Amino acid sequence: MRILGIETSCDETAAAIVENGTEVISNIVASSSEMHAKTGGVIPEQAARQQIVSILPVISEASKSKTFDAIAVTVGPGLIGSLLVGVETAKTLAYLSKKPIVPVNHLTAHVYSNWISENPPVFPALALVVSGGHTDLVLMKNHEKILWIGGTRDDAAGEAFDKTARLLQLPYPGGPSIAKEANKYLSRLHNPQLRMFPRPMINKNNFDFSFSGLKTAVLRGVNTQQRVSKQRLAAEIQEAIVDVLVRKALDAVKKIKPKSLLLAGGVSANSRLREKFKKTIKSQSLIIDLRFPPEILCTDNAACIASYAYFNFKPLPWNRITANAELTITDKA
Ligand code: KG4
Ligand code: ZN
Repeated sequence: MRILGIETSCDETAAAIVENGTEVISNIVASSSEMHAKTGGVIPEQAARQQIVSILPVISEASKSKTFDAIAVTVGPGLIGSLLVGVETAKTLAYLSKKPIVPVNHLTAHVYSNWISENPPVFPALALVVSGGHTDLVLMKNHEKILWIGGTRDDAAGEAFDKTARLLQLPYPGGPSIAKEANKYLSRLHNPQLRMFPRPMINKNNFDFSFSGLKTAVLRGVNTQQRVSKQRLAAEIQEAIVDVLVRKALDAVKKIKPKSLLLAGGVSANSRLREKFKKTIKSQSLIIDLRFPPEILCTDNAACIASYAYFNFKPLPWNRITANAELTITDKA
């Protein structure tokens, strides 16, 4: 079965066709992030207007001379104005084509980027979803049963990258900008000590995260340690975020003993995060199948939306599909 996925939850307009949940037939992403780079962050009203401009060309490009059997659309969480563009377009398409339409939870769908593979992961799977707006650790017993294990109490991991990047006057989105500066620093030094910033809650016996304190620590660091280079500050910020994510996720692996560990969301594109997960799993001899998607499927895309819908194929009548900006990762769409 071929499913056309549609994703418009934030500042990406995306459409993709995926066969049997695992094979990408087409994958188109138009981003308005360059526009937001000028203002240092997403302005919801502008993001929604750009969705209107991009949605039809993006769907046409993804479905050009290709057939599909069903439609999948992100209904939430996200920016309501942006979500509505994708949802209403998908409903219209379903009505006109008489094809089934499946509502999709964007957060859960991020994890399905790991199923777009010749060798899909096995359950039970622990998933770490680290995006611009969310940081969640969930246990997937199967496609249906998802248990929330922990998450952030304040800022998301991606948000911590974005906000601290602003303090360093690095361009939006902050994650890739910080990673780029950090890599310059890391490539010059062998095994540098990176201990400037705190690792909140790292020793707490739970799976919760807190990243909001990092902004204050970085601001203080920028003001008081003026001789420290921007590249070093970027490496320190990245390390503080990565250390907490690796530690908490692997603590959960030791306690729950899942078969796979699935990284997902924009921050899972971070090469230092991937590397530290691999190294720590090896040095602690943990038995776990670590998976992370190719970079293009870490950030917002529609291929994972289509994949999710294949493995959770619950179509609704088109007129019962509604956007819901407030969904959490364990909510059914
Ligand atoms: O999943 P995503 O594309 O959108 C949301 O659903 O939020 O995640 C975007 C977030 C942004 O905060 C961005 O700075 C971060 O992912 N990000 C990264 C990297 N690439 C994107 N963070 C760290 N390192 C990266 N390479
Ligand atoms: Zn996302």
